[in-house]
Amino acid sequence: MSNPYETTYQESINNPEEFWGKAAEDCYWLKKWDKVLDDTKKPFYRWFTGGEMNTCYNALDCHVDVEGRGDRTALIYDSPVTNTVARYTYAELRDEVALFAGGLSRLGATKGDRIIIYMPMIPEAVIAMLACARIGAIHSVVFGGFAAKELATRIDDARPKIIVSASCGIEVKKIIPYKPLLDAAIDIASSKPEKCVIFQRTQLTAQLTKDRDIDWGDLMKESSPAACVPVLATDPLYILYTSGTTGQPKGVVRDNGGHMVALKWSMKAIYDIDKDDVWWSASDVGWVVGHSYIVYAPLFKGCTTVIFEGKPVGTPDAGVFWRIIAQHKVKCMFTAPTAYRAIKREDPRGEMIKQHDLSHFKILFLAGERSDPATVQWSEHNLGVPVIDHWWQTETGWAIAANCMGLKPFPVKYGSPTKAVPGWDVQVLDLDNQKLPAGEIGALSVALPLPPGALVTLWENDDRFIEAYLREFPGYYKTADAGMIDDEGYIYVMSRTDDIINVAGHRLSTGGMEEVLAAHPDVAEAAVLGVHDALKGQIPVGFLVLNSGVTRDHDEIIKEVIAMVRNQIGPVAAFKSAAVVKRLPKTRSGKILRGIIQKMADNQEYNMPATIDDPVILDEIGEALEGLGLAKARS
Ligand code: COA
Ligand code: AMP
Repeated sequence: MSNPYETTYQESINNPEEFWGKAAEDCYWLKKWDKVLDDTKKPFYRWFTGGEMNTCYNALDCHVDVEGRGDRTALIYDSPVTNTVARYTYAELRDEVALFAGGLSRLGATKGDRIIIYMPMIPEAVIAMLACARIGAIHSVVFGGFAAKELATRIDDARPKIIVSASCGIEVKKIIPYKPLLDAAIDIASSKPEKCVIFQRTQLTAQLTKDRDIDWGDLMKESSPAACVPVLATDPLYILYTSGTTGQPKGVVRDNGGHMVALKWSMKAIYDIDKDDVWWSASDVGWVVGHSYIVYAPLFKGCTTVIFEGKPVGTPDAGVFWRIIAQHKVKCMFTAPTAYRAIKREDPRGEMIKQHDLSHFKILFLAGERSDPATVQWSEHNLGVPVIDHWWQTETGWAIAANCMGLKPFPVKYGSPTKAVPGWDVQVLDLDNQKLPAGEIGALSVALPLPPGALVTLWENDDRFIEAYLREFPGYYKTADAGMIDDEGYIYVMSRTDDIINVAGHRLSTGGMEEVLAAHPDVAEAAVLGVHDALKGQIPVGFLVLNSGVTRDHDEIIKEVIAMVRNQIGPVAAFKSAAVVKRLPKTRSGKILRGIIQKMADNQEYNMPATIDDPVILDEIGEALEGLGLAKARS
């Protein structure tokens, strides 16, 4: 008997044009594409060239105008931090989006203009994103936990005409004023937006800047609805910045057509979601998971999506996930393992789960970091549903590896996100670009072309795109994850091969943090690495070498560098530990041996590298780690 996963996978790899052409028939096009896959400008591949469509039309209008489903719930806003539950039907959401799109047009935004969205988890964030798509403007959502300087870097790279923001965010019980961060970012940036639209929240209203800021409500009152603007399938839909190996983030560019086709297809194949199902992705619109699976994919599919303004614990307690699943009859949820670790820590026996009727709940999906077996098993045991780990990246836009629940579920192997998803030709390569046999660890790579929905380039930087992803392994996309594939095709993702760390499901660059530390006047050199943390997966720890002659109190300097990272990168970096050392361990050629310090901190065995310039230095590092409460391992 044929296996639907195998058949689908083989079709997608052997005949991608036919496969994705068929998937595209499920979407609404204004003009059919000339070519499904255009490979005339290798290594740049484009999907559905010549096709015209509109992403917002496919997310909203088609359900109202064509399918007669305008009265179905599109969006549920559940905010325990403001005690609010609000629902929008497809017709209501379409009307709000059309009106705000009219407002953006009134402010001068047109197709191709960039619009930065810096907002908390409120429906207006979703409305702003879809409104940009409606008029063909390119949105760039910036996560609220980033500091003003990070926002400024993104403003300078994207050069937005308009920024859409809110007066404040709410972090558990803390009100975070957004407007001062926005103002500071605009001050730092050399590119200035023409206008800022500010959504005033009742918890804290912001002082508007004369001649620049407009109140969201006023703009809506003055505007009339805008129609969907036809765009090319290959036109950019959004830029999403993600950590690179330096302080300069990478502006991942996603197109309209391929993104729509792949995401709509993924809802059934990977997540087993149909129209009218209730889907909940507990992420943030500032991350790729929020883009793809809070906003676009569920709305393309015509199901109900939940937007959650809260935390897994503390809003008000570790039972909030179960309350939401029960109250809104959620069929599947998607979040990061760290969220479940936080719940498990507070309610180890799952007592709060038993207080709710979870009979509608069918599958839990986890991604963003490796799913540790203990968390997966705790969730399986207490929820009684399949727990599906899947692997993806900001760049890929959707899952590279998963247990495709709408095709054929496979037995779970703990520690593996199961198999390559149709469309993704995943290979393990050695440093000579040769495929490694099953079971051998190497560079996880994807043979080109990448499927629709993956990044098409970096914003205005084709050279960096090639350099970062395509140069090292010719013919392949470099994921920068190391891992292996076993003899049954199960993929194992072990670790990053660059300096990216994953802190509570948030992707951060230790290189970016090192740049901040090195800018302290007393610091000569710094190293930051991610060490294991039971809740957040990893947390950053810094080592500082001071300039000679510095006699100041080390604790003072440490406090200052911690504040610098918080102010320049943001609280989300969770940078709270640092130590002063006399020297950093290095190879004789001067490369800092971060891997060894990390292994020492994580209490793992390590081998003394033959190239180390001075082994004695490791004793001092070991003492510093002990001082920070991190274990010291002996080789
Ligand atoms: N705006 C402003 N500040 C924010 C913020 C936002 N949107 N998001 C986080 N922060 C701040 C927090 O207030 C906190 O500040 P603090 O140092 O003053 O306490 C800091 O950034 C770290 O926040 P967070 O990473 O959320 O850690 P936490 O300790 O508050 O909570 C978890 C831990 C595990 C509960 C939380 O990280 C979580 O829910 N993670 C899920 C991650 C996720 O959804 N990832 C998306 C990929 S699927
Ligand atoms: P981001 O771009 O923030 O989504 O982070 C992508 C990185 O997170 C990947 O390159 C991996 O290192 C890691 N990651 C995401 N999902 C998984 C997973 N299921 N298993 C292991 N690592 C993961």
